[in-house]
Amino acid sequence: MRKKIVAGNWKMNTTVESAPELVGGLLDASWPDDVQLIIAPPFTQLGVVAQQIQSSNIGLSAQNCHEKESGAYTGEISVAMLESAGVEYVILGHSERRTYFGEDDNLIYLKTKVALKQGLKVILCVGEKLSEREIDNHFKVVQKQIENTLCLFGKTEAANIVIAYEPVWAIGTGKTASAEQAEEMHGFIREVVANHFDNDFAEGISILYGGSCKPSNAKEIFSQQNVDGGLIGGASLSAEDFVAIANSF
Ligand code: PGA
Repeated sequence: MRKKIVAGNWKMNTTVESAPELVGGLLDASWPDDVQLIIAPPFTQLGVVAQQIQSSNIGLSAQNCHEKESGAYTGEISVAMLESAGVEYVILGHSERRTYFGEDDNLIYLKTKVALKQGLKVILCVGEKLSEREIDNHFKVVQKQIENTLCLFGKTEAANIVIAYEPVWAIGTGKTASAEQAEEMHGFIREVVANHFDNDFAEGISILYGGSCKPSNAKEIFSQQNVDGGLIGGASLSAEDFVAIANSF
């Protein structure tokens, strides 16, 4: 059985004052025991949120980390800093990092490497742009992203990676991939992973869907055989919507 995961990427939203209210809404709610809920607040809210969720089963993720272990990198955050703040996961390869901060597969690989080495689990994002889908290049693009990152690790390390398929054209646009489009790509990703590692390994890796996922469409998307949950942006800023998504399996 693959792990079911619903992860909330808060992006550049909330403050130290507002985050506890959002978390409070989650702590008051319930969702199935076999669904791992993860939240990814901004760096400055990690400490306060970590304390608040300490005795819950909600997982804590960061939204980024630096690829070096420490040193003279003004303004950057290392994996060790995240771990000392109580973080267990880190989101890497998000399309907003790729687009606005010039992160490429090699940098994402280096960040994944340092995160795994120091014991974080990685939510590794892949996904094609609209222009790439329009010329039917989406499978090739995603395959390359997987080969340039996940496939460079051995099985023991790669077992701590969760993949998130996020078609860039669906992120924050209100446009969702259809359940069929999601399933088609998730099945393909699992095949790429199986061809590189093996079937057993591919069967065990969780693949999340991300991109305008909300309570009204989560059920249909999560019912697909190869969809193991979601990476949720906008809808994760409402405790009610986020929990409704977690209750959509
Ligand atoms: P969205 O974001 O749900 O707001 O589309 C998803 C993501 O970027 O992870």
